[in-house]
Amino acid sequence: MQTLQTTSLRVVDNQLFILDQQALPQEKRWLSADSVPLLVEHIHALRVRGAPLIGLSASLLLALLAENGADRKTLAQSLETLRASRPTAVNLMNNLDRMKLTLAQEDFVPALVAEAQRLIEEDKALCDSIAQAGNTLVKPASRLLTHCNTGGLATAGVGTALGVIALAHQQGKVTNVWVDETRPLLQGGRLTAWELGELGVPYQLITDSMAASLMAKGQVDAIWVGADRIAANGDVANKIGTYSLAVLAKFHGIPFYVAAPQTTLDPSCPNGEAIPIEQRAAAEVTGVAGSFGAVQWAPENAQVYNPAFDVTPASLISGWVLDSGVVTPEQVTAGFFAR
Ligand code: MRU
Repeated sequence: MQTLQTTSLRVVDNQLFILDQQALPQEKRWLSADSVPLLVEHIHALRVRGAPLIGLSASLLLALLAENGADRKTLAQSLETLRASRPTAVNLMNNLDRMKLTLAQEDFVPALVAEAQRLIEEDKALCDSIAQAGNTLVKPASRLLTHCNTGGLATAGVGTALGVIALAHQQGKVTNVWVDETRPLLQGGRLTAWELGELGVPYQLITDSMAASLMAKGQVDAIWVGADRIAANGDVANKIGTYSLAVLAKFHGIPFYVAAPQTTLDPSCPNGEAIPIEQRAAAEVTGVAGSFGAVQWAPENAQVYNPAFDVTPASLISGWVLDSGVVTPEQVTAGFFAR
């Protein structure tokens, strides 16, 4: 495969490398991801993360394994192992469905390579289209709030919600971005803060619990988040804490936008209740760990509830910003996502 480079994926000499998103922003460390167990471990540890990126990394690895001589049976088994690596983001399943169809072709090696490269190029284009569509909704002098990380780190392109914010900033429309730190794994505090800093977008980092009082004070003009899966009725699974922002936005009369590519749509999933929600390790809540080490503050035997995602009902969403344009609540009620 040709050399390939995105913000957080790299292919050199037919080997896959990932930018370790657990080490950022303290350290910019590229790690090898050239076997299925290695990539699955990186995905579990959220060194590779973000709905589009996990699908793209899995597809690239399959193509590289094929090029490096793996047979069809091994590739089919690898594909299913990768598919099971995280349950909530449907981009992984959607990308791997395309790779599975390609694997059935007679000349599957070049076909898999071409398909993985196509998925990367498509994701870049999807991000650009989302940014263009979302930018039409951003008003001058906007103070925006975002949650988790939806930027170049999480995609092959400019990102989804963060791509919208970056484009609006380029056009001089963004006064400030409130960045939720996004407990427990701090994707906002570590990754979104870093990306906005690199892009020169003005931001202020807040703890998740500060968002409500900012809204009450009239300091938030709109909320922009990404998605891990959009069900047929428009319900959205996204990083834990998204639902509470949507409830707060409704109470304060603030627009709440979800930005996502077509690879995040799951018309076979009737509603949010049917979206599988990943439960994660207690250690993420009893303390914090990172490139700086680990600190535990809870008692040794503390019982923990730690869902990685929550579901925001369609009734709380002002607009779904896709690569194809802005989808309105009326369109969703009429069955837009069920097709
Ligand atoms: O657990 P993560 O960090 O993979 O969760 C990421 C999110 O929830 C993002 O908002 C979502 O994947 C969209 S990324 C463009």
